[in-house]
Amino acid sequence: MARTTAAITAVASHVPDYKLTNKELEKMVDTNDEWITSRTGIKERRILKGENKGSTEMAKHAVNKLLEKRGIGPEEIDLVIYCTVTPDQIFPASANIVSHKTGMINAFGYDLNAACSGFLYGLVTGSKFIESGTHKKVVIIGSDKMSSIVDYEDRATCIIFGDGAAAVLLEPTEDGTGILDSILRSDGSGQEFLHQKAGGSERPPSAETIANKEHYIYQEGKTVFKFAVSNMADVSYEIMQKNDLTAEDVAWLVPHQANLRIIDATANRMGVGKDKVMINIDKYGNTTNATIPLCLVDWEHQLHKGDNIILAAFGGGFTWGSVYLKWAYDPA
Ligand code: UT7
Repeated sequence: MARTTAAITAVASHVPDYKLTNKELEKMVDTNDEWITSRTGIKERRILKGENKGSTEMAKHAVNKLLEKRGIGPEEIDLVIYCTVTPDQIFPASANIVSHKTGMINAFGYDLNAACSGFLYGLVTGSKFIESGTHKKVVIIGSDKMSSIVDYEDRATCIIFGDGAAAVLLEPTEDGTGILDSILRSDGSGQEFLHQKAGGSERPPSAETIANKEHYIYQEGKTVFKFAVSNMADVSYEIMQKNDLTAEDVAWLVPHQANLRIIDATANRMGVGKDKVMINIDKYGNTTNATIPLCLVDWEHQLHKGDNIILAAFGGGFTWGSVYLKWAYDPA
C-alpha cells in the first residue's frame, strides 16, 4: 500500500507595509548599516504599526490568501496550528482568534511555542494528523509581531527582529511527495540565553517587571550564535545522511533567517552551494516563526514537483530541527 504523506499544497504570506531600515535604526540606537549588514545580513525589516493589532492581524491576511490560492473555503479546514511567540493574548489561543477572523469554523486549533523552531515543530505535528488519516486539510501558520517584545533602546536585539506572517496548507498525498522525514530536538538548559523574563506565571507582570524591561527579548547573542551554528548545521547534515541525500540531490535549503553567518555555516556543512539557499533575511530580518514559510512563498515560482528540500531552524529554548520534504507541485 502506498504511504500517505502530508504535502504542502499552497503557501501564502502577509508582511506589514512599514519598512524599518538600518538607516532609521542608526537614529534610534548607537549602530550603523555596515555593522548590521556585515554581522547579520539584514538591511530592513517590516513593522506592524497601529493600536490593538496583534500577530493574528497579519496571519488572517496570509490565511485568506492561502485559501484563495487553493480555491477552497475556510469551512473546509479541519485543523489550525498557530506557531508563535507573540500570540494576541496569553489566552485564548491565537489559533482560535485567527480561525474566527477567517471563518475556519469547522477547525480545531492550538498555539505552538517552540520559538524560532516553531514552524518546523508545527509542520511535523500537523503532518502526523494527515498521515494518521484523521484530518485532510491542515493549516500551519507562522506569525510573529516581534516588535511587540523588542526594546528599541537595546542595539543588540532591536536590529535583528521584524514582523511577518505566512501559512501553508497540508493535504494528504500518495505520490511520493510531501514531508518525508524530520529530526526535532530541544534542550531546556539553553533557556537563560534567549527568553522573555516576565509576563508568564513565574514572574507575572508588575510595576517592577515593567521598570526592569523584563517584557522584552533578552538574548546573549554570542552564546546563542555558538549553539545555533553547530546545532543547525549538524541537524541539517544528519537528515541528509539519514535519507542518503548528497548535496547534488538537494534542490533547496530553507534555513531559519536569524543571521547570514549561521545560514552560511549550515550550507557549508551540507556542501550545498549558495545558489541553492533561500535567503531573504536582508528584507525581513528575523521574523521568528514566519522566516521559513516566508522563504517558501518568495521562492514558490522556482519550485518544481519532486524537488528535495531541507528546512532547518534553531531557536530559543533551545529548540532546533530539520525537515526533509519533496515539493508537491510545479509553478502555476
Ligand atoms: O533566531 C533565534 C536564534 N538567535 C540567533 O540565532 C542569534 C544568534 N546571535 C547572533 O546572530 C549574533 O550574536 C548577534 C547578531 C546578535 C551579535 O553579533 P556578534 O558578532 O555576536 O556581536 P557581539 O554580541 O559579540 O558584539 C560584538 C561587538 C560588541 O562590542 P565590543 O564589546 O566588541 O566593543 C557589541 O557591543 O559589537 C557591539 N554591538 C554592536 N555594534 C554596533 C552589538 N550590537 C551592535 C550594534 N551595532 N547593533
